[in-house]
Amino acid sequence: MRKIAIFASGEGSNAENIYQFFQKGNRVRVALIIYDREESGIARRVKEMTGVRAVYIAPEDWTSAPQRILDLLADEEIELIALAGFLRMVPQAITHAYAGRILNIHPSLLPAYGGKGMYGMNVHRAVIEAAEAKSGATVHYVSDELDGGDILMAQEVDVTPDDTPESLCAKVRLAEFELYPRAIAMALLRIPPRINVDPAASAATAEAESASQEPTPAPAQTETAIPRAADVNPPAIPGLTPPATPAEEWAQTLGVRYDAGKVKDALGANPDVEQEAPGVTIVEIDGTPRATSPAGAPRDSDATDREMPPTYLVWSIVVTLLCCIPAGIVAIIYSSQVSSKFYADDLAGARRASERAQIWIIVSFVTGVLFQSLYLPVALLFN
Ligand code: GRF
Repeated sequence: MRKIAIFASGEGSNAENIYQFFQKGNRVRVALIIYDREESGIARRVKEMTGVRAVYIAPEDWTSAPQRILDLLADEEIELIALAGFLRMVPQAITHAYAGRILNIHPSLLPAYGGKGMYGMNVHRAVIEAAEAKSGATVHYVSDELDGGDILMAQEVDVTPDDTPESLCAKVRLAEFELYPRAIAMALLRIPPRINVDPAASAATAEAESASQEPTPAPAQTETAIPRAADVNPPAIPGLTPPATPAEEWAQTLGVRYDAGKVKDALGANPDVEQEAPGVTIVEIDGTPRATSPAGAPRDSDATDREMPPTYLVWSIVVTLLCCIPAGIVAIIYSSQVSSKFYADDLAGARRASERAQIWIIVSFVTGVLFQSLYLPVALLFN
């Protein structure tokens, strides 16, 4: 189980979406949510989230007591921090300890409409005023440059002539909901499973920071000062190759085998499948453009994922038949004895044969049901 933390200040819709997304699986958990506004959407939403440690850190404590936050992160064995509408500078002690492990989401296609003053509705207003045809959301690693860290993934939405800043905001938010959890899963695949924080070093940074007593300027948009992600990229992890496509990413997340070749063959029947989806497009994963369908709609990769289960289906039917057939044959033998014994006036024998036939019919049925329902989990265990 890999654990992440979320820092949030505002409505908390992304935080809630990330929480719900990972609740569906058992590989990643939102273990900790730290927020800095007592009267906020996130403060309310977090009460509904089970198994999440929710901690309010008062604004003044972010600069004076970063060690407390580091301790919380260490206690919960946090491997990655996702900023979701977090409107405060992350203390350097944290950015140093979690270098390359802090993500942020921005409501535009960075680098466009990023930087000073570009936050909230300002972004959407500027996009509409410039009559852009596309906008979207970008997940990036946090760097010392405002909205300037290395881009991990982005997702486009169409801007239509009747769009208002509010309607565009709603569209972009949907794209964010689809994008951010996937970007987090992708980032986790790239980093070693356990964070290697040097407690002495981060404690020293925390101490130096609080000793300096310098007031931290409140940024208009989330920003931190850490090396660029490219400088802190962790080494490749054996057996944990970053996925090349969303379908592979999901196969890895689900722990199932995925044969891209077979899927390609299956898609060959419909070569237009990637062009059919207008609207939202994953524009960059490791610099490679990828197509997908509109936010909220099933993606093409979802269609390709459906190529995997038939293998399980065929084998589970074969295994089920193999397991219940022997018991079924015994049931048939006993059944055939019932009439022959009855006509031979062996009523007691006919009754015994009938009872045995019933028992074996039940055994055959139960074995069939058991193997049918256990096959998939057992197969996944050995996969
Ligand atoms: C999102 O639009 C995100 O892109 C930006 O702040 C907003 C947060 O919204 N960084 P919420 O608090 O998650 O609802």
